[in-house]
Amino acid sequence: MNEKQRLETSAQINPADKKSVKDYSQYFQSVYQPPSLQDAKKRGKEEIKIDRGFIIPEDMLNLGVGRKFYIRTYGCQMNEHDTEVMAGILTEMGYEPTDSVETADIVLLNTCAIRENAENKVFGEIGHLKTYKKRNPNLLIGICGCMSQEESVVNRILQKHQFVDMVFGTHNIHRLPQIVKEAMFSKEMVVEVWSKEGDVIENLPRVRKGEIKAWVNIMYGCDKFCTYCIVPYTRGKERSRLPQDIIEEVRHLARNGYQEVTLLGQNVNAYGKDFTDMKYGLGELMDELRKIDIPRIRFTTSHPRDFDDRLIDVLAKGGNLMEHIHLPVQSGSSEVLKLMARKYDRETYLELVRKMKERIPNASFTTDIIVGFPNETDEQFEETMSLYREVEFDTAYTFIYSPREGTPAAKMEDNIPMEVKKERLQRLNALVNELAVQKNLALQDQIVEVLVEGESKKNPEILAGYTSKNKLINFKGPKSAIGKIVKVKITQAKTWSLDGEMIEEAVEVN
Ligand code: SAH
Ligand code: SF4
Ligand code: F3S
Repeated sequence: MNEKQRLETSAQINPADKKSVKDYSQYFQSVYQPPSLQDAKKRGKEEIKIDRGFIIPEDMLNLGVGRKFYIRTYGCQMNEHDTEVMAGILTEMGYEPTDSVETADIVLLNTCAIRENAENKVFGEIGHLKTYKKRNPNLLIGICGCMSQEESVVNRILQKHQFVDMVFGTHNIHRLPQIVKEAMFSKEMVVEVWSKEGDVIENLPRVRKGEIKAWVNIMYGCDKFCTYCIVPYTRGKERSRLPQDIIEEVRHLARNGYQEVTLLGQNVNAYGKDFTDMKYGLGELMDELRKIDIPRIRFTTSHPRDFDDRLIDVLAKGGNLMEHIHLPVQSGSSEVLKLMARKYDRETYLELVRKMKERIPNASFTTDIIVGFPNETDEQFEETMSLYREVEFDTAYTFIYSPREGTPAAKMEDNIPMEVKKERLQRLNALVNELAVQKNLALQDQIVEVLVEGESKKNPEILAGYTSKNKLINFKGPKSAIGKIVKVKITQAKTWSLDGEMIEEAVEVN
C-alpha cells in the first residue's frame, strides 16, 4: 500500500463540525472506498511483500504509561489472535490490561461481521459504552475488526455514535499507535479503514492469552468468495506468511513451554498458493512443523476444495499432528453447494472424508452448516441431515443463513420463512446432539490423553482439559498437572463434555 492509497482510504472526521451528518457522511465517502466485489474479484497475483519494519515510534512509546486498556473480542480465532497483537502493541506503549470497562482508559471492540446478530450485539455494546464515556470524557473508545471494514457500519457509527473516538479496520492493526495518538490529541473521530489489504507484517508484538496453547497465523484473507460470506471483503485477499517465519514462531513457542499450537487461516488449505517463486503448501509446512518438539499441532479452518493428498499423507504420519479435522461442509445438497459457490459437491465431500478415514483411521471430523440458504427445499435440507449421519461428525457449528450486504447471495431472495429456518436448525441440532452423545458414550471406560488447561470454570476442585480430538474432559487431579498432558480414564459421558479420573501424571510424547 503506498502513501496515496493510504490517504485515499483513511479519514479524520470531526462529528462536532457544523456540517450536517449527511455532509460528513458524503465527505467520508469521498475519501473512503469500501472493498467492492468487483474489485475483489479482480484480485491478481501481485507479489505479497513481507514488511519487517514494524516499530512503535519513540513519541508513542510512553503514551499509555499509567493507563489501562480493555479489549472485547467477538467472532473467530482470527479476531482472538488479532486482539493478542493489539494487546501486544498497547503493552509496548506502556498500557496495562484491565478486565473491566470501568477502570479502562481505552476500550476497543474487536468486532465480527459474519451474521446480522453478531453485528447487533456490537451495536448494543457501543450504546452501553456511551454511559462510560459520559462519566469519563477522557476514555478512548475504538471500534475495530471485521465490522469496521463495512461502509454501512462506518456510516452508522458516524451518524449515530459520534462519541466513538476511533474506527480502524483489519488491515490497519499495526497502525494502532498512530491511531491512538491521533485520537488522544485531537477532538476528531479518527477513521482509518484501508479498503485494500497491505503486505504481510512481521515482528508484531503479542500478548498471548495463555501459556499452554497458542495461535499462529499462517495466512491472512480469503479468496474463495462463497456467495453468502463477508470474510473475503473484510479480510482481503489471501496472503501467506513465509514458512521460515511460521517455523521460527512455533519453535519459539515450544522453547517457551507451550504445549499446543493452532495454525490459523480462513482457508488454511490455500496456504502457499500466493507464493510465486516456490511450490509449497500446507502439507509441506506441516511436514516441517511436526519435527518441532511441541506436543500438539492443530490447524483451522480447512476448505474441502483445497484439501490435497499431500496434506492427508502428512497428517497420516500422526505424532504431534492432531487427528481432529474441522471441515466445514455448509450443506449436504449439491444444488445448494453450487449456489453457495463452494466449488465441491456432496459426492466429492463424502469421497474426501472416506479417503481421510482410510488414511487416518483415528480421525474425527467436525463441521459448519448453514440452514435456510435461499431456495433451500425440504429435500435439500434432508440431504444435509443424511450427509451428517453418513460422515458421523463429532459435532458441528450450525447457523441460520443471514444475508450480508454486498455478497452475491444477498441479491438472491431470502425466501425461506424464519419459522422454517428455525425448525430446520432445531432438527439439525437434535441430530448433532444425538451423534455427540453417541460419540462420547463410545469413550466410556477408555483412557484418553488430556492437555490440562486449568481449573474447571464451575468447580475449582476439578481440572479441565482437551483430548487430541478436542473433547472437553473434567476430572479430579493435582494442580501440578496443569500445563501437562496426562492420562485420564473416562467415567461418564455427557453431551458436550466427559468426566474422568486421572490415572497417570505425565505422558511421554513421541
Ligand atoms: N473460513 C471458514 C469459515 C468462516 S465463517 C470456512 O470456510 O469454513 C464460519 C462459519 O460461519 C462458516 O463456515 C459458515 O458456516 C458460517 N457463515 C458464514 N457466513 C454466513 C452467513 N452469511 N450466514 C450464516 N452463516 C454464515
Ligand atoms: Fe467465507 Fe468461504 Fe472464505 Fe470460508 S472459504 S471465509 S466461508 S468465503
Ligand atoms: Fe467474524 Fe471476521 Fe472472523 S467476520 S468470523 S471475525 S474473520
